[in-house]
Amino acid sequence: MKILAIESSCDETAAAVVEDGRKILSNIIATQVEEHKLYGGVVPEIASRRHCESIVGVVDEALEQAKLTLAEIDAIAVTYAPGLIGALLVGVNFAKGLAFAAGKPLIPVHHIKGHIAANYIAHPELEPPYICLAASGGHSQIMRVESYTKYSTVGRTLDDAAGEAFDKAARAMGFPYPGGIYIDRASKTGDRTKYRLPRPHTANPYDFSFSGLKTNVINLVHNAKQKGEQLDIDSLAASFQYTVADILTSKFVAAADEYGYKTAALAGGVAANSGLRSLLEERCSERGITLCVPPIALCGDNAAMIGSQAFYEYTEAGAAADLSLNAVASMPL
Ligand code: KG4
Ligand code: ZN
Repeated sequence: MKILAIESSCDETAAAVVEDGRKILSNIIATQVEEHKLYGGVVPEIASRRHCESIVGVVDEALEQAKLTLAEIDAIAVTYAPGLIGALLVGVNFAKGLAFAAGKPLIPVHHIKGHIAANYIAHPELEPPYICLAASGGHSQIMRVESYTKYSTVGRTLDDAAGEAFDKAARAMGFPYPGGIYIDRASKTGDRTKYRLPRPHTANPYDFSFSGLKTNVINLVHNAKQKGEQLDIDSLAASFQYTVADILTSKFVAAADEYGYKTAALAGGVAANSGLRSLLEERCSERGITLCVPPIALCGDNAAMIGSQAFYEYTEAGAAADLSLNAVASMPL
């Protein structure tokens, strides 16, 4: 089954063709990041307008690269939740128009389920059940993936998502948006033991809280500025990255142990973080847990992951929408 998938939940306009949930036939991404960088974050109205301008070209290119016509596609998939509402609406409306015109089924996909499905593309052997850590700009969650379409949440962030904490801490350190990758790069030359940062307690041991940690970094930077002191930014970045990676990893492997999982997966934009990847790999291998991590190119927002999840939504859960499908800004898994 060949699915044409569309993703426009944030600042990437993306389209892809995926076969049977596992094989990428094309994967096109038009990023707007340089424009949003000027404002230090995503400007929702600009994002919607750029999606509107790019979507036709991106979808055309995805079909062209897959060497397929719309008539040869079996279904159209689209991210309908969660995300920036104006951004999501562009993709949803475009997909509806396309499905209607071509007479194809329309498959709505939850963005975070898509992030998790990036692992099915990269790891042909991966099948539920397994435990998953999803960490992105808007989500940080530990989930038991019971089937391709059924999940139960073990823990989630009580305040900031990990990616949001990375981006806000990075901004205080003077890095451009989105700052996660700049912290990652700076960490490589920093000393992660130089700054001691707080590790918040949560009532549910598998929940996260990153807002205190983020505020601690912001205060450290402001205090240093007021006193005219020079901070070692690379070491602050390394200390912050290690603390976030350690919190995510410790809770995740503890949950894997408690629920008896021997297979685990990492997903979302923050899965690209080198510190998190290596710490998680190390601690999973110590416990004999097989860890699946998507390649960097499939960690951030893309439509291939949406096409992968759509296959399972359609074949396992029979998910198909009619033309009344709407976008939803926030929706739990
Ligand atoms: O999944 P994603 O592309 O978009 C959302 O669904 O939110 O995640 C974006 C987040 C941003 O906060 C970005 O800074 C973070 O992922 N990110 C990273 C790295 N690459 C992207 N965070 C830490 N280290 C990285 N290498
Ligand atoms: Zn995402």
